[in-house]
Amino acid sequence: MWLVKKFFIRILSKFIGFMMRRIKLPEPELISGPGSLNQLPALVQSKGVRSVLLVSDKGISGIGLIDPLVEALDKVGIDCTVYDDVQSNPTIANIESGVEIYRANKCDGIIAFGGGSPMDCAKVINARIGNPKKTALQMQGGMKVSGPLSPLFAVPTTAGTGSECSLGAMVSNPESHEKFGVASPYLVPTCAVLDAELMIGLPPHITSSTGMDALTHAVESYIGSWASDYTNLHAEQAVEIILRDLEATYRDGTDVDRRQNLAMASHHAGLAFTRAMVGYVHAISHNLGGLYGVPHGLANAVILPLVLDFCRQDCEAQLAKLAVIGGLGRRNEPIKTLSLRFIDKVREMNRNMDIPTGIAQLQASDIPNLAKRALAEAHPQYPVPRLMKHSECEAILQKLLTIRG
Ligand SMILES: NC(=O)c1ccc[n+]([C@@H]2O[C@H](COP(=O)([O-])OP(=O)(O)OC[C@H]3O[C@@H](n4cnc5c(N)ncnc54)[C@H](O)[C@@H]3O)[C@@H](O)[C@H]2O)c1
Ligand SMILES: [Fe+2]
Repeated sequence: MWLVKKFFIRILSKFIGFMMRRIKLPEPELISGPGSLNQLPALVQSKGVRSVLLVSDKGISGIGLIDPLVEALDKVGIDCTVYDDVQSNPTIANIESGVEIYRANKCDGIIAFGGGSPMDCAKVINARIGNPKKTALQMQGGMKVSGPLSPLFAVPTTAGTGSECSLGAMVSNPESHEKFGVASPYLVPTCAVLDAELMIGLPPHITSSTGMDALTHAVESYIGSWASDYTNLHAEQAVEIILRDLEATYRDGTDVDRRQNLAMASHHAGLAFTRAMVGYVHAISHNLGGLYGVPHGLANAVILPLVLDFCRQDCEAQLAKLAVIGGLGRRNEPIKTLSLRFIDKVREMNRNMDIPTGIAQLQASDIPNLAKRALAEAHPQYPVPRLMKHSECEAILQKLLTIRG
């Protein structure tokens, strides 16, 4: 039975991968470097936008991070309405509030300012504006959004999700306690601004977990079967930077050059995974986020070494290459040794950045359902190196009940 199921999952996954390669994915116009946010008002103006909705969250507006931009937009005569009620793991209600405010203020463009939560929320607000007859839930899955949409300018303040260049957005449905994805080339933002000065005050625990999210994007895209030369190049650059700079930035977040490198690493990883997809780490993590609100990056960091243990033998060569790129060994060493060293490094990074080994909110009684939902999310659209049975997914979740650190 499992063999038959495996066969069909693989065939379907190949088919989706084949179709994906045929879709020309846009890339956002990129402005990058410390202080680059100063260029955004002129850029917004150049796209003919006169009234912008700025989507953010209270954590960001509370520390005054958006104030200089709001002033600068005002100076060039662009009306700016701030919607800063986005929750972490943004909800359908967050999107609907944003849509109402956009319409009430006759906006014609959106600035997404924040981590993945405001960026994803802004992307789906934009999709709802352009597709008024469809609810966010009806856009679930791939290619349900028609376009073109209004200009969307993404300003990531975590390094992180890569949402500023990805075709997807994750939305929480508090009714079903599930997270669902909306994916369409029209969701790729028009422009992305990577300004590390906005990330200097990012607290250490968010620096570490969001950095491990970016690492997970790079690794999962690299070991999956949809990887291409293009995605591998971006994933490799991301891994090199993250292994070199993340722990140091966790300890001291004030080095703007390191922060800028990490912002770029997150962007590289975003360009990789939006084409080559993610894997079981994300499938499990999204479901822990939907059920308990576990922060996305934290869940990924905790799950990554466990999923790599599970599939190591089926992606040994790729993990070995990443180990060499990350400076963990030499090319002529046995690939088994190098691949194991790469997984050890992920565990060491987690330990050094005080990331626990389990998920505090996880209830043993929820494990069967979580495994079911995670595998339903992964099969067939995540091109993983080794397919996971329900019992194997449950076994990984069982390990998350034991928390050290
Ligand atoms: N669309 C995609 O391609 C994609 C990829 C990965 C994850 N995601 C989604 O992104 C969301 C997670 O995003 P995230 O990890 O960036 O976290 P987040 O956006 O939820 O932010 C986490 C916290 O960090 C704070 N914060 C953000 N930037 C800050 C700064 N510069 N200084 C101080 N505080 C700051 C926020 O106020 C918030 O409290 C999840 O919903 C996840 O599913 C989307
Ligand atoms: Fe992610």
